[in-house]
Amino acid sequence: MALSFFSPRLLIFSIIIIPFLASIALYRLDTFDPARLPDEALLYSTNSIPPLINDRFLTGAEFIGVGLLKSPEDIAYHRDSGLIYTGCADGWVKRVKVLESANDSVVEDWVKTGGRPLGIAFGLHGEVIVADAYKGLLNISNDGKKTELLTDEAKGVRFKLTDAVAVGDNGVLYFTDASYKYNFHQVAFDMLEGKPHGRLLSFDPTTRTTRVLLRDLYFANGVSMSPDQTHLVFCETTIRRCSRYYINEERVELFIQDLPGYPDNIRYDGDGHYWIALPSGVTTLWKISMKYPFLRKLIAMATKYGFEIMFPENAGVLQVNLDGKPIALYHDHTITHITTGVKIGKYLYCGSLLHSRIIRLDLLKYPAH
Ligand SMILES: *[C@@H]1O[C@H](CO)[C@@H](O)[C@H](O)[C@H]1NC(C)=O
Ligand SMILES: *[C@@H]1O[C@H](CO)[C@@H](O)[C@H](O)[C@H]1NC(C)=O
Repeated sequence: MALSFFSPRLLIFSIIIIPFLASIALYRLDTFDPARLPDEALLYSTNSIPPLINDRFLTGAEFIGVGLLKSPEDIAYHRDSGLIYTGCADGWVKRVKVLESANDSVVEDWVKTGGRPLGIAFGLHGEVIVADAYKGLLNISNDGKKTELLTDEAKGVRFKLTDAVAVGDNGVLYFTDASYKYNFHQVAFDMLEGKPHGRLLSFDPTTRTTRVLLRDLYFANGVSMSPDQTHLVFCETTIRRCSRYYINEERVELFIQDLPGYPDNIRYDGDGHYWIALPSGVTTLWKISMKYPFLRKLIAMATKYGFEIMFPENAGVLQVNLDGKPIALYHDHTITHITTGVKIGKYLYCGSLLHSRIIRLDLLKYPAH
């Protein structure tokens, strides 16, 4: 037998010691250098679990634009026309006419940005403002004929992952750049590195100036304007936290922390509540690796070699009131990658970073208990 050529010692050496030494060498050579996260990122209490829960979000949910909407990340509703605008993975901003029956919805390819449209909102004159992950902040005229780049850098630092946008009543655009270091396809690395590469920014169309409101944010994601226009509420995905930014005072205050998942977009519903999308709940692996940088390094190395380990699970949408108090959670163990939750009438419309569809849930028929 061929095996008899090998002594047991050589066998152990070749199947255990060599790979072990090689791994150590690889680990040491790899320059990926994750940081310790702040203590508040490592809280796991039940404080942000609301009294009302619907844990079977998919039961009763309807699907809109199945196969036609590739990963519709964010949603904006245009009241006058009744159309939903959403940015898709194929670079198109699409418009959806939703009808009583979700199956009868009509999807229209509207404008192709050529990048990856994420955050979407309406400007004061009906124009569509898009936070495009690759291009920066875009202004698409309401007839769809003209797309203009408003800004793609601030203080000499280019945006690498323009993520979400909100529009003030004064016309100023408030938006986030999730990371100046990693792009849209490298989101996992930004989170695994655990360093604050994100910024909260504003763009004033009258002066055409871009301002950095806050820097050193841990994956700056969703942003929403408060109904009284005094502050913004924005999410930091990596540390599961949302904060308020008071615009005149230029002051930051905690809004809600220790969220039951990793927050993405946050949307105000015009009726006293914000809806925070959670693409993933807190998994055991995320929990442990957030605590130990060396584990995040191993996971990042595995990811580089093509092994996906950090599977999201249990996505949902958290409804909170204006004080940041959790009210209701709609989630489902079998669903992932919910990136936005927009309440329109009695329905909650959800975007996704994975599925080719918008999900709609009738909140009156399927309430949280
Ligand atoms: C909508 O389409 C799905 C899939 O084709 C089908 O299962 C469902 O019954 C339809 N719903 C209605 C209300 O027609
Ligand atoms: C967007 O462009 C339109 C012209 O197409 C202009 O009227 C509007 O003021 C612009 N909006 C912003 C926020 O720059």
